[in-house]
Amino acid sequence: MKAGDKFTVEINSVGMDGEGVARVEGFVVFIPKTLLGEQAVVEITQVKKSFAFAKVIKLLKASEARIQPPCDLCFKCGGCEMLHISYEAQLEIKRNTVKNCIDRECGIDCFVDDTVASPDVYNYRNKVQLPISRQNGKAVGGYFAPNTHIVVPSSVCGEKGKCVLNANGIQGVVDIFLKWLDESNISVYEEKSRSGLVRHLVVRKIGEKYSICIVINGDSLPHYKTLIDKLKKADYEFSLYVSVNKKNTNVILGDKTVCLYGENSITGEALGVRFGVSVLSFMQINDKVRDMIYTRVGKIIEENDISNVIDAYSGIGIMSNIFAKYAKNVYAIEIVEDAVKDGIALAKANGNADKIKFICGDCARELPPLISTLDKSLVVLDPPRKGCDLRVLESLLKAKPTEIIYISCNPATLARDVKFLLNDYEIQSVTPYDMFPHTKHIETMICLKRK
Ligand SMILES: C[S@@+](CC[C@H](N)C(=O)[O-])C[C@H]1O[C@@H](n2cnc3c(N)ncnc32)[C@H](O)[C@@H]1O
Repeated sequence: MKAGDKFTVEINSVGMDGEGVARVEGFVVFIPKTLLGEQAVVEITQVKKSFAFAKVIKLLKASEARIQPPCDLCFKCGGCEMLHISYEAQLEIKRNTVKNCIDRECGIDCFVDDTVASPDVYNYRNKVQLPISRQNGKAVGGYFAPNTHIVVPSSVCGEKGKCVLNANGIQGVVDIFLKWLDESNISVYEEKSRSGLVRHLVVRKIGEKYSICIVINGDSLPHYKTLIDKLKKADYEFSLYVSVNKKNTNVILGDKTVCLYGENSITGEALGVRFGVSVLSFMQINDKVRDMIYTRVGKIIEENDISNVIDAYSGIGIMSNIFAKYAKNVYAIEIVEDAVKDGIALAKANGNADKIKFICGDCARELPPLISTLDKSLVVLDPPRKGCDLRVLESLLKAKPTEIIYISCNPATLARDVKFLLNDYEIQSVTPYDMFPHTKHIETMICLKRK
């Protein structure tokens, strides 16, 4: 098999990223944007030792779950892997992905709840991080085409933006920014030569306020005052930041962030908890699904007589403040300093400063000594995609908290970590939440009880 070969295939399974999978000449072939049961003529794009990638040349038999996507960039842009699939089918694909990961890794036949749908299927995304480029002389922003660093412009200077996922209002900010970039003749970053100034635009919407951060390959941003004037004229309530990132890296934000206009952190409210969030602090991307998860975790803590809760990988600690209503002591562990600063301010503003202890550091170092001193405790784990460090899991097995709630955006690392805990814990429930409709991403919550 080689790149360029064409085959007629039938899709007989679904891959981790929601793509169709076919078997051809002993190779497993991954074909994005195809669905189970579909038949297609495909062209091989890349061949590895035992597997290959292909693209559809002609669809011969379409699945009933295939729909006309509401965005004409669906088959070019890397932002949405599932926009061509009915929403009900997306939820089932995600449930199956989670089940397959757990069953395969843990060697069990696990019951997985139906995926909880997002109340907002479109315009749910409260944050965008757009690489900026210039194409045909115009500034453009958008997601990369799959497996490339070529921007597919979902927003072109002077034209109406198209992305259906962004929260209402974000597109307007992007459009004003791109127009200003062209009018001010500011260069954009080119990866190959590592030259040019503007790399990314990061916009986060909190309530009706916007945090707008321009990532630059330089020390200062010229003409930013005219951008402030334009955003003010358009009646946006916002803070403007510049983040300096001169490194040759895929990490978007740099180490140094300067506030050019507005507040250092943007204030908002979630489930009655008032918070302020800085540029570097993490926030869940879908407000309504976030609130569903936080409410459920809060209820578990309310219903159980729990003295101590550890909110590991806490971010700014909105959940910690919900837990503080029911538990005697809450310990929040978070590695990003700015998030911990936000968290301490948040606990104070919500009258929980005495109850919540923030620990700034790596969970792998901070959790083991903490948990060994606590009894009647419950641990909430909400790590980044790479999952928990082995030291975290080992300390849990040693201290044996009564319950563990594991929230994860990566079913593969979630299954790996849960397998490690299964000798001493049993799975109470597994619930996928659709935090990221139309994309391959899945949020999952697993409740574990000590045997
Ligand atoms: C998926 S987020 C969850 C945040 C929070 N629970 C929430 O719902 O907003 C993961 C958080 O873990 C933090 N983090 C990443 N690695 C860490 C580590 N080794 N130790 C502690 N915190 C870490 C990140 O900065 C981020 O705030």
